[in-house]
Amino acid sequence: MSHHDERTFVMVKPDGVQRGLIGEIIGRLEERGLKLAGAKFMQIDEELAHEHYGEHEDEPFFDGLVEFITSGPVMAMVWEGADATRQVRQMMGTTDPAEAQPGTIRGDLGLDLGQNVIHGSDHEDPGANEREIDLFFDEDELVDWEKSDAEWVY
Ligand code: PPS
Repeated sequence: MSHHDERTFVMVKPDGVQRGLIGEIIGRLEERGLKLAGAKFMQIDEELAHEHYGEHEDEPFFDGLVEFITSGPVMAMVWEGADATRQVRQMMGTTDPAEAQPGTIRGDLGLDLGQNVIHGSDHEDPGANEREIDLFFDEDELVDWEKSDAEWVY
């Protein structure tokens, strides 16, 4: 089995927080077998929003996107596992929840194109995961740990 552990950036967006979906989303990532490496409940300011979404600054939806992502707290996280970036994107479903497959996070929980519950690093943009992790987390905020094989873990 090709086993390529990597870290990826995941964020429950303000709509997901407002709707009480943090636990549901963390639960899905845990059940999939991904490992949490860092988490921060935080408010994104204008500057961070522009840095994070900088590649979209020429899009017509850019101002709305910045307004939305700064409108309330987000749950920023780093998840780790084999091919984690692509795995998370698969679990998220497509950008527009109306198009997302049932069984995906957006397909099950999202309703609106802008307010689509979750962000995950783009697996088609090499290095996006590391860039986003660096933007949101200091190295000492990430935890390197092993899943225990103790008998009480089942
Ligand atoms: S992606 O995820 O980068 O492949 O998706 P993309 O289609 O390029 O969209 C980039 C982010 O912009 C958000 N988006 C929108 N917000 C508001 N209104 C409209 N019309 C809209 N279209 C796209 C989309 O949710 C993506 O956010 P993230 O956080 O990256 O998923």
